[in-house]
Amino acid sequence: MPLTRLDITDFRNLASIKIEPISTGFNVFYGLNGSGKTSMLEAIYYLGLGRSFRSTIIGRIIRNSTEKFLIFAHGGASHDQTISIGIERLLRGEMKIRIGGKDARSAAELAGITPVQLINSHCYNLLDAGPVFRRKYLDWGVFYLNQDFLRVWRDCIQILKQRNAALRRQRPKKELDSWTEELVSKAALMDRFRRDYMERLQPILSETLSELISISGLNTSYYPGWDKTANYRDILEASFDKDRLIGHTQFGPHRADLKITINKIPAKDILSRGQQKLFVCAMILAQGALLNTGANKKPIYLIDDLPAELDIVSRTNLIALLSKQETQIFVTAVEFESLGDALSRFPLRMFHVEHGNVTEVRR
Ligand SMILES: Nc1ncnc2c1ncn2[C@@H]1O[C@H](COP(=O)(O)OP(=O)(O)OP(=O)(O)O)[C@@H](O)[C@H]1O
Ligand SMILES: [Mg+2]
Repeated sequence: MPLTRLDITDFRNLASIKIEPISTGFNVFYGLNGSGKTSMLEAIYYLGLGRSFRSTIIGRIIRNSTEKFLIFAHGGASHDQTISIGIERLLRGEMKIRIGGKDARSAAELAGITPVQLINSHCYNLLDAGPVFRRKYLDWGVFYLNQDFLRVWRDCIQILKQRNAALRRQRPKKELDSWTEELVSKAALMDRFRRDYMERLQPILSETLSELISISGLNTSYYPGWDKTANYRDILEASFDKDRLIGHTQFGPHRADLKITINKIPAKDILSRGQQKLFVCAMILAQGALLNTGANKKPIYLIDDLPAELDIVSRTNLIALLSKQETQIFVTAVEFESLGDALSRFPLRMFHVEHGNVTEVRR
């Protein structure tokens, strides 16, 4: 759901912002270092997910010397079909979320309305950090395409907690049988959800990648969290003594990963920084495309410092690819000129960010 009006009060250095973003196309925030560009993206992200991508400490996010922040937006496919969403957070900790004039019970309700995809310098983690980042990526996609995913995943986490607690208490193997059986059945479901998702994503990812970079010998394979050629129950059986020794379950859906290699070598060891950025963008855009075809939803893209690390051809290709998705995109750049030519063919709204003030600039 695109945002057609956005009001931000006392969020980071943004005291009072009121803008009307373009629903389909590029909204560009440009301005000097420290002006408030990333804070604009952070506020939109907060509205989409009820949390920040920079800090979990609320006092860091609320504007200095103020007591609360408020983010409010109108969203909808068209102006006559709008819904209002708002989030307020107090320094004392309370959070109030309103959706369509009613109190929402949790931030999870926000995520259902506005899928947000963030691309920033942390996205390199998808390639060069641990499996947790790739698992989150995978599960973001599965969550929107499969209504059962969240329930099964929560069950899995609960069962693992119980099983691990019993392992730590050195309980006899027989006592763990019921947890192990439950884990085996939930793990099979998780594996099916994730595998199905990857089967749908892979062709879209290949196509998206081919529009951004040419890499031969690329392989993206899904790892369920245990040797997929073996039976999961047998693996749990064989690893029981070691599990008990270390006090947790070594193999399972909580260890799922995507193995990304080029000619069998990890992609992070081969790709240049710019190529890594393009690769990660392709991964995220492919998810957006699948969200559209698979769940009839379009994500809002937030891209911090789009020009960074990319040459002019890559910027142009990335922008063209984004525009094909006909969705709402927010990007930041220090200088508008670094994007100007590449954006000129597409629907665009420009906002100059200066000392925490945001003004629309008309061409
Ligand atoms: N709680 C807060 N209250 C007031 N100002 C804050 C708060 N937290 C951060 N700031 C300031 O907000 C300013 C804007 O930060 P932001 O990260 O949005 O800048 P930016 O425009 O993205 O800069 P860059 O181009 O360097 O990435 C910074 O000067 C920062 O010190
Ligand atoms: Mg920034």
